[in-house]
Amino acid sequence: MDLREGNGATRVPPSPSPQAGLVEGPGYVFDNDSTHSHEQHACLTTAYDPITLERLAATGVTAGWRCLDVGAGGGSVARWLAERVAPSGEVTATDIKPHHLAHLAEQPGLVVLAHDVVADPLPEAAYDLIVARLVLQHLPERDAVLRKLVRALKPGGTLQIDELDASYEPPLLTPDDATAELYRTFLRAKAGALRARGGDPHWGQRVPAAMRAAGLVDIDPRPYLRLRSAGTAELRLQLHHTHHLRERLIAAGLTERQLDEVRELLLSPAFCAVSSTLYSVQGRRPEGVTGR
Ligand SMILES: C[S@@+](CC[C@H](N)C(=O)[O-])C[C@H]1O[C@@H](n2cnc3c(N)ncnc32)[C@H](O)[C@@H]1O
Repeated sequence: MDLREGNGATRVPPSPSPQAGLVEGPGYVFDNDSTHSHEQHACLTTAYDPITLERLAATGVTAGWRCLDVGAGGGSVARWLAERVAPSGEVTATDIKPHHLAHLAEQPGLVVLAHDVVADPLPEAAYDLIVARLVLQHLPERDAVLRKLVRALKPGGTLQIDELDASYEPPLLTPDDATAELYRTFLRAKAGALRARGGDPHWGQRVPAAMRAAGLVDIDPRPYLRLRSAGTAELRLQLHHTHHLRERLIAAGLTERQLDEVRELLLSPAFCAVSSTLYSVQGRRPEGVTGR
């Protein structure tokens, strides 16, 4: 089986389809249909591409490789991969709501598909390299999806999963104790909003063990911690969440007034906190062993 049109996947036209966005992403707390999603992808690209791309480069990805980017979002990782594997390789960029990838549909060596990694099939033993960043932690079916990704790797192929762990992200500098507590309340509400949709805000730290359980070897986990301080993409992402997740944060118990106060705090040049930890984890499918 090849992951092209059919088999549950739909090729994305170069301009946004009028049908785009009619599907609700199962388990996914953010939403590519939201007016805020462009800003979300911009923040993720700025904050995490330097890490993700450095790790991908270390796999030796080069001309001729076949790669898959699952839940490709704004497409910056897929675009970078397509340049690396040109002219003889190919990158497939999938997303359940792929309209932010439409601008990539005419790039040589890059196939953009509407594809639900939970429900739709993937070809077996097809890819030298698969990357999934900030996708599986949102999906209640993450362990089954992980096994599906392992089966989609060629023997000897590499899976890279980059996921956040929000279990440690303390405020370091705030105007006073009350605003530090307000910030913690915001973080708790955000974690609650993720969990309410079946997400696991701590999944980053569980990725290495999950990869081993799925049959991968040579597991190589790298944690990355940053500052949320004025001018950083990490801080901008938090501010963005106060808008993108507004309804869900209110449902999780925050008031409109608290949200306004959180925004004011995040915009204060005096504010500084520890980011959540990004775990970039690579694992390899053993040679000559079929996936579990
Ligand atoms: C937090 S964004 C991350 C985007 C991109 N990987 C990045 O790190 O910049 C998660 C992406 O996964 C997509 N997604 C959510 N559920 C999905 C599913 N079941 N199958 C495929 N993609 C999915 C979303 O539409 C969204 O674009």
